[in-house]
Amino acid sequence: MYGTEVIDPDVPLNAAESADYDAALAGSAAAGERPAHASFDALIEADQRVEPRDDMPSAYRKTLIRQIAQHAHSEVIGMQPEGSWVTRAPSLRRKAILIAKVQDEAGHGLYLYSAAETLGIDRAELLDMLHDGRQKYSSIFNYPTLTWADCGAIGWLVDGAAIMNQVPLCRCSYGPYARAMIRVCKEESFHQRQGFEILWNLMRGTDAQRAMAQDAANRWWGPALMMFGPHDTGDAAQGGGHTEQSMAWGIKRFSNDDLRQRFVDMMVLQADRLGLTLPDPDLRWNEERGHWDFGAIDWDEFRRVLKGDGPCNAERISHRRRAHDEGAWVREAATAYAAKQAARATSATRSTDRLHAAEPAA
Ligand SMILES: [Fe+2]
Ligand SMILES: [Fe+2]
Repeated sequence: MYGTEVIDPDVPLNAAESADYDAALAGSAAAGERPAHASFDALIEADQRVEPRDDMPSAYRKTLIRQIAQHAHSEVIGMQPEGSWVTRAPSLRRKAILIAKVQDEAGHGLYLYSAAETLGIDRAELLDMLHDGRQKYSSIFNYPTLTWADCGAIGWLVDGAAIMNQVPLCRCSYGPYARAMIRVCKEESFHQRQGFEILWNLMRGTDAQRAMAQDAANRWWGPALMMFGPHDTGDAAQGGGHTEQSMAWGIKRFSNDDLRQRFVDMMVLQADRLGLTLPDPDLRWNEERGHWDFGAIDWDEFRRVLKGDGPCNAERISHRRRAHDEGAWVREAATAYAAKQAARATSATRSTDRLHAAEPAA
């Protein structure tokens, strides 16, 4: 894995490298054994996986389609902020790493669209909904990548927050989604390490490089905290969220606030190791809670960006639409090729059948 020469590979850097991931993995293997034709409620009750052909309430199906699609869209749109740095990466090594990372995100989109399709929706329809704004992607990708250090901050903070959200999804009640997450989290772990390593090197460079790294951390910290979603516990809880129902269905395992707190606790120590100052004057250790306290989040900004008024919303979606239109010939060629292969396979089966039919019975 990249970065191991400067970062201790034995120290967990993110949730995918912690015991949480191992537990999710073990839980996923155990969930494979289940009685056939068990009812939906019994499966959820027994913490077993729901599979595509099982009966499920239509609201459960709808919730999953919305969530998996939003996740898939985020992976694909998420290629853009760092993709713009592939041609400007400071060395060949950095370029190779960044290409691999951006390519991984495309792969995550593919696993997730495939997982969504098992719920009975077509990916072309999901892409239409992304392109015309009926479905969303994570607001974090509507912020610009102004300097090379932003690639470091995205890997460290954005991929780090994504992993914190996604490790519990490895135990999600819907089988195809849970299985996709197991692989995604492992790859995200590499992404976080490469981001950490970019910042690590910048922080050990010139004054200008250190300032660049600090500036990137300053800009990405707040939006990274927003990635966990609005408050859903205590007095600050905002009604209308999906947390309660999603938890009852075994889709969500922890509240937004719980995951955000775990992220802060993990990142404070890493920021210290990097030599970066997190841009929050209210950040302090709370002995009583055993957690780091942190300042208020700018939810007005969150809602503004969510509504489409972020620095890059229009640019991201128009780039996506253009890429989709320009890729039409690839989809047509792939469909024609698949049809040809299928026709060949059918005619091969027919001739084998004819051959068997001609053989004398034993
Ligand atoms: Fe990803
Ligand atoms: Fe990633």
